[in-house]
Amino acid sequence: MAKTVFITGTGTDMGKTYVTGLLLKKLKDCGKNAAYYKAAMSGNVRGQDGELIPGDALFVKQASGIQQPLREMCPYIYENAYSPHLAARLVSDGELQSGATAN
Ligand SMILES: Nc1ncnc2c1ncn2[C@@H]1O[C@H](COP(=O)(O)OP(=O)(O)O)[C@@H](O)[C@H]1O
Ligand SMILES: [Mg+2]
Repeated sequence: MAKTVFITGTGTDMGKTYVTGLLLKKLKDCGKNAAYYKAAMSGNVRGQDGELIPGDALFVKQASGIQQPLREMCPYIYENAYSPHLAARLVSDGELQSGATAN
């Protein structure tokens, strides 16, 4: 049965993403089929194809070496560095914005 580890902290820049990358690397090195999930992330940049890239997911993927599509790791990605609910509201059509088809 799958187990879930929930990484949280008292603010930003506490090391949540860093520790998550290390944890996933360790799990992978131990032969576990581990995956990452962060529902929404704000303050992201676009790749050369114009798609938004979820920065935390990309960091974790590169640090750990897991083979999980970025879109699956973080499905709701916003450009503006606001809280996700506000960033979603600011997207022009009012719909939740998602992107990052790059793997
Ligand atoms: N244990 C650590 N050793 C060295 N640098 C760290 C450590 N934990 C975090 N950092 C650095 O601190 C910064 C913030 O960490 P991050 O994991 O992005 O925070 P959070 O996800 O909580 O916002 C990053 O530049 C990261 O590389
Ligand atoms: Mg983070």
